[in-house]
Amino acid sequence: MASKVVSFTLNGRETEVMVKPLTTLQVVLREQLGHTATKTGCRQGGCGSCTVLLNGEPVLSCLLPAEDVAGQQVTTLEGLTPIDGLHPVQRAFFDHYAVQCGYCSPGMILTTKALLDRNPTPSREEIVEAISGNICRCTGYTAIIEAVEAAAQALKGGQNGR
Ligand code: FES
Ligand code: FES
Repeated sequence: MASKVVSFTLNGRETEVMVKPLTTLQVVLREQLGHTATKTGCRQGGCGSCTVLLNGEPVLSCLLPAEDVAGQQVTTLEGLTPIDGLHPVQRAFFDHYAVQCGYCSPGMILTTKALLDRNPTPSREEIVEAISGNICRCTGYTAIIEAVEAAAQALKGGQNGR
């Protein structure tokens, strides 16, 4: 099968990339487009470190053929991060020590962003459910849950979150 050009919106910008058949979005983002905030973990759908947003919803980019995102909106952590600081979700993770090695953080933060977009006041149980596909080997999750709660408060209080 031949390579083909795939056009999609990446972090608000129209993007075209030549893709070999069955190349995952994770590989295209990291190796062809240099968006390395998207991490490579298990490559089997089991860790969540490769999470990106597709039309605002979390997806595992290691399982998603890049050609399937044609015409759609993809957001990575690079797209969430303001030029001059941190998004409120990033700030909450930083302030609550929810980042240690940081390997899970891009996926966790994007999953949190999607959660708070659809449910601005999640319960603790809803937070746990939302991040259940994102594995963290460092924090024990308590700090992450507290960070998500703090991010919800910050966004409710009007801090700017794209
Ligand atoms: S690298 Fe995609 S779920 Fe682990
Ligand atoms: S901070 Fe290390 S895996 Fe979560």
